[in-house]
Amino acid sequence: MITKSAEPFSAAIRELTNARNLLVVTGAGISAESGVPTFRGAGGLWRGYDATQLATPEAFAKNPELIWEWYRWRREICHVATPNPAHESLVEFERAFPRFLLATQNVDGLHARAGSKNVVQLHGTIDEILCKRCYRASKNIDDPFEPPSKLPTCPHCGKLARPNILWFGESYWEGVLQKVASFAHIADVCLVIGTSGQVWPPIALALEAQKNGATLIEINPTSGELTPKADIWLQGPAGSLLPALWSQLCS
Ligand code: OAD
Repeated sequence: MITKSAEPFSAAIRELTNARNLLVVTGAGISAESGVPTFRGAGGLWRGYDATQLATPEAFAKNPELIWEWYRWRREICHVATPNPAHESLVEFERAFPRFLLATQNVDGLHARAGSKNVVQLHGTIDEILCKRCYRASKNIDDPFEPPSKLPTCPHCGKLARPNILWFGESYWEGVLQKVASFAHIADVCLVIGTSGQVWPPIALALEAQKNGATLIEINPTSGELTPKADIWLQGPAGSLLPALWSQLCS
């Protein structure tokens, strides 16, 4: 582990220059500059509801219409949004590092749309539905810009479907965390971008990488759960810092 640096940007460049295997963990903050609302803070409010109370199986069981309305709103935003310079820089990082894995908590699909290839979507995807009865996932065929006539149903059995998104209190899908955990064992640097660190498993993966020798670099304008544990904190928006890191690495 390196000691905390007074010059975090130069320290980050040094660590990235020496690294071969790069693990990246992203959260809602990386898409904030694309206009996708974050979960906590002011961005997490929708019609007075707190996002963390809507993203639960209990909320869906109680009021599927309301939860679908919220997700349709979020899906429309995700479809309007385009990848920002932070997403684009990570595509360059992927090309430059011999081994690269990007684990995202985001369901907006912006990493893939930017061109990132080796992406694990830890919390699912906004463009899929999951059947409540037969548990099969399917593409959401509703037009995100048209008000739907009915709630989405499973194309296989016709029953009510939910978004194929991991909710609070639910277990991660089999194999998803393990794939990232395996990479955490070989990562030289773990870059954590735009997450409050309030959801434990993604943070545990970053700490696992650090325990195995990776330098933990955080990019975030404000400090969160992970910041005291990070080796380097780059304080600022990802949309400026990631292109700056990339341009410095290339020079
Ligand atoms: P949060 O909304 O909890 O946190 C967003 C983080 O992004 C905060 O730490 C902000 O300071 C930071 N941020 C804001 N603008 C930024 C910018 N321009 N550049 C970099 N960082 C910025 O979102 P997550 O931590 O991703 O899970 O939330 C984790 C999970 O909780 C979500 O995936 C979701 C949620 O409930 C599920 O739905 C299962």
